[in-house]
Amino acid sequence: SKVPVPVNEPVKSYAPGSPERASLQARLKELSASKIDMPLVIAGKDVRTGRLGQATMPHRHKHVLGDFHQGGATEVRSAIDAALRAQKDWAALPWEARASVFLKAADLLAGPYRDTLNAATMLGQSKTCHQAEIDSACELIDFFRFNVAFYEQLLREQPQSSPGMWNRLEHRPLEGFVFAVSPFNFTSIAGNLPTAPALCGNTVVWKPASTAVYSAHFLMQLFREAGLPDGVINLVSGSGGDVGDPVLNDPHLAGIHFTGSTKVFHQMWRTVGGNIDKYRGYPRLVGETGGKDFVIAHASADPVALATALIRGAFEYQGQKCSAASRAYIPSNLWPTVRDALAAQVEGIRMGDVADFSNFMGAVIDGASFRTQKAAIDEAKSASDAEILVGGTCDDREGWFVRPTVIVTKNPAYRTLCEELFGPVLTVHVYDEAKWLETLDLVDSTSPYALTGAVFAQDRYAIEQGLQRLRNAAGNFYINDKPTGAVVGQQPFGGARASGTNDKAGSILNLLRWISPRSIKETF
Ligand code: ALA
Repeated sequence: SKVPVPVNEPVKSYAPGSPERASLQARLKELSASKIDMPLVIAGKDVRTGRLGQATMPHRHKHVLGDFHQGGATEVRSAIDAALRAQKDWAALPWEARASVFLKAADLLAGPYRDTLNAATMLGQSKTCHQAEIDSACELIDFFRFNVAFYEQLLREQPQSSPGMWNRLEHRPLEGFVFAVSPFNFTSIAGNLPTAPALCGNTVVWKPASTAVYSAHFLMQLFREAGLPDGVINLVSGSGGDVGDPVLNDPHLAGIHFTGSTKVFHQMWRTVGGNIDKYRGYPRLVGETGGKDFVIAHASADPVALATALIRGAFEYQGQKCSAASRAYIPSNLWPTVRDALAAQVEGIRMGDVADFSNFMGAVIDGASFRTQKAAIDEAKSASDAEILVGGTCDDREGWFVRPTVIVTKNPAYRTLCEELFGPVLTVHVYDEAKWLETLDLVDSTSPYALTGAVFAQDRYAIEQGLQRLRNAAGNFYINDKPTGAVVGQQPFGGARASGTNDKAGSILNLLRWISPRSIKETF
């Protein structure tokens, strides 16, 4: 292989007293003390519209980190023009030149940018130090390095030839531009969505989530410092409608790389369908959307490992991972042990300012999410078919704080057992241990999503039954582990059904969507 063989970036521990902790703390202080201006970046130039949005800390929502400029139809026009202008030269570069930009970005992020991206993710998205480190440092570094290796592997894919002819495949980028729309919950995904298509020679208009423009601003700085040419990735913040509508109306739209809600992806899909006669080609729609990720335990499961997995899977990053464990099916024989473990350990979870490294949780992302969680919790308090085992309090005076909450219900159709909340609320259904197979079918049929899921069992037959009966219920399936924390190059990530197009981020399968191969036959 010509490219360096990638290895997953080691996760730093930031142990008390370590130099890495001191350095990150210093960066957190610096960023907290300053208020920055965040322009759009179009054709390599900063663009200020004066239509400002505010980036605040979710855990101290009156603290403003900076103002970001928001774009509309005019800026979208300039961004698309810049992307189309840059496309030919960028695609004509030897692929190694494009790969170099992202390998350098990985090295910068592993080194001098690590503190900045981690601190920005902690402050702007309320991630704890560990959650930021596995996201904005390790996973993003992995995306950059592994995608280069996957791309090289993809280029090696060539057809057979025989005497008298030479057949070859040219791995062209798509014709037009790619629209990348990134979510608030992973800085790594925000970095991967525009750069995976760009590596393959595409140029991009990138709209980050309005609740995560702060880290996106520093990401854009990283791309520029790594040598990304002007116009290859154009950052246009703004509302979904103001930015998305003109983008989706453009005849040169060649693809969408999206992570976000099912509702928004459906809307985009409809708009693209309605515009289909306008486009030069069929835009590639690649989306990773919602989840209602399950953990189902068999009577033979280890209840201690199960309780730990539930707590980590449901409450790390406040349950705001599309992969988060948000519904659990526990057999009656294990429930007393699991219930006591959950009640005691969840009660003890420390939550607060993420700059205090002893907290296990920060705040949810914004007021809208806070209200969604609170409404579901209040509903459970008054429901006849549900009760709250632990948690159930919310406090928005300083930040958007929702205590980690476990709801228990006997009703397998109970709302929070089926609908996505995207917050720190785990709903548990205790089932009769004799009804294992029926409960597997229940898991499969009571939610429209199919992103991640986990089966806990020691009994090998039960594990196999889980694997078979839940074959289509999760794109990422875990056996005796929490359903979160997929690692690039190890567990390609994505789901089907209402969870997305399952184009596996962090694998060669995703990159296949960003090329439009030309088959060439030459006869001698
Ligand atoms: N890739 C992320 C995870 O697996 C969402 O948790």
